[in-house]
Amino acid sequence: MVNRFPLTRMRRLRSSQVMRDLLQENTVSVNDLIYPIFVEEELDDFAPVDSMPGIFRIPERKLDAAIKEIAAAGIKAVMTFGVSHHKDEIGSDSWSRDGLMARMIKRAKDAAPRMMVISDTCFCEYTSHGHCGVIHGNDVHNDHTIENLGKQAVVAAEAGADMIAPSSMMDGQVTAIRSALDGSGFSNIPIMAYSSKFASAFYGPFRAAAGCDLDGDRKAYQMNPMNGREALLESDVDEAEGADILMVKPAMPYLDVLTKIRQRSLLPLAAYQVSGEYAMIKFAAQAGAIDEHRVMRESLGAIKRAGADLILTYFAMDIARQGF
Ligand code: PBG
Repeated sequence: MVNRFPLTRMRRLRSSQVMRDLLQENTVSVNDLIYPIFVEEELDDFAPVDSMPGIFRIPERKLDAAIKEIAAAGIKAVMTFGVSHHKDEIGSDSWSRDGLMARMIKRAKDAAPRMMVISDTCFCEYTSHGHCGVIHGNDVHNDHTIENLGKQAVVAAEAGADMIAPSSMMDGQVTAIRSALDGSGFSNIPIMAYSSKFASAFYGPFRAAAGCDLDGDRKAYQMNPMNGREALLESDVDEAEGADILMVKPAMPYLDVLTKIRQRSLLPLAAYQVSGEYAMIKFAAQAGAIDEHRVMRESLGAIKRAGADLILTYFAMDIARQGF
């Protein structure tokens, strides 16, 4: 580019707030946001999650009131996570018609029928060992796990879930869920695939929130955080399997991945700003190191700018109440 100064002056278009508003390229509204919620059975009162200021485990029996409050604040979509007291080796409570997953979805839909309820489709909150599937030997068995994912997805859809979001990072999980849903008359229920999910240390606070600590790690199924190209391949594979929406998770440390997938796929793209990203901002603000609202705004704006259409974020209620 030729130097055209003083003809060109970039500051001309930054001269007033009106000008800056007119020229702003990206914004975020509640229309873009999905609020993740934790629902615990056999719990009496809202239980604060110490590692995530402002986030509570919702008692199953108070879910109606909580969902109505979330809806009244303007949130249009939630992602449900169960905190189970009925864990077993295979996570069978998650595909029981009377299990926590089915009950919480039904309760949420009954309380606020227009709220979109997206079911996190995985096992780690329902297995005694905390892994995202059935263990054979030392490993999560892929093909048995995806069979169970299909069962879980059908039970979630029967309970009223509007969208299925498989997060276990098993091969073929989208294929298995699509065919299970289609075989049970749910061909209209979309799948939002956690397609690029990294084995991230940023999930730390979530494990406390969802009660799914585990011995070991998830590196045999979640992606190596040092890889980028592999995420493109994962996204291609999930798209080919029939995913309706792709996802990158975590968000902020993986904006490069988000941008590359955006340029490659025409599917809608979601980004999950995970528990550790949220906690960093909350605790830094509590310590007086940063301005919480402005940093929240900048982080969500960056995720949008990088290419996300949808953002899963624990800040959703803050945005709904305070504006962007
Ligand atoms: C697994 C799941 C996890 C998160 C969402 N779904 C935990 C994991 O994969 O270890 C993490 C979300 C967060 O950190 O906010 N079902």
